[in-house]
Amino acid sequence: MDAIINEYKKHGVDNFYRLHGNDYENPHRDIVENIIMEAKSKWNIQGNVLDLCCGSGEVSNVLKDCDVEGLDPYTSELYEKNTNNNCIEMTFKDIVCRGLEKRYDNVICSYALHLCERSMLPILLYRISEVSDNLFVITPHKKPDCDGEFFKEKERMKRERTTIIWYESRIA
Ligand SMILES: C[S@@+](CC[C@H](N)C(=O)[O-])C[C@H]1O[C@@H](n2cnc3c(N)ncnc32)[C@H](O)[C@@H]1O
Repeated sequence: MDAIINEYKKHGVDNFYRLHGNDYENPHRDIVENIIMEAKSKWNIQGNVLDLCCGSGEVSNVLKDCDVEGLDPYTSELYEKNTNNNCIEMTFKDIVCRGLEKRYDNVICSYALHLCERSMLPILLYRISEVSDNLFVITPHKKPDCDGEFFKEKERMKRERTTIIWYESRIA
């Protein structure tokens, strides 16, 4: 984690992923896979899923029996190769400006929502709540707190240092 924070500081987050989009690997992949598998069975996650900031497919590859689409501006080539799913190429800012095009039963964002600029987060959450009643955030941090005007926390689970938080839309 420290190493990646230093890389973010050196290049900036977007530039880091622009440079490394095709060789991205989450060093905590096993924890992400385990926590999503447990959440899927405990919380009965089903239907269609948007894997927001999908990286190389860490979340999508666990949800093989769901209808999953990825979204990531920098890793689409790698993601599509690893998962055979479609990847929408959009940044947080694009989502804020244009919104998402279709409805999803679930939006899952793993190890990435803290990368959204704090000032943009409320509008991003609004945009997500326009298309989905369920948002799952997987994070190794306390940040970001998505409880607010658009989502409310429903449940959470922590495994090692990683937490998954299930938020429900307030405007459903
Ligand atoms: C730490 S990785 C997480 C990837 C994957 N979800 C996982 O759990 O391993 C962060 C992801 O956020 C994406 N990302 C970086 N800046 C972004 C931005 N401005 N808008 C949308 N996604 C962005 C990166 O391309 C990268 O795939």
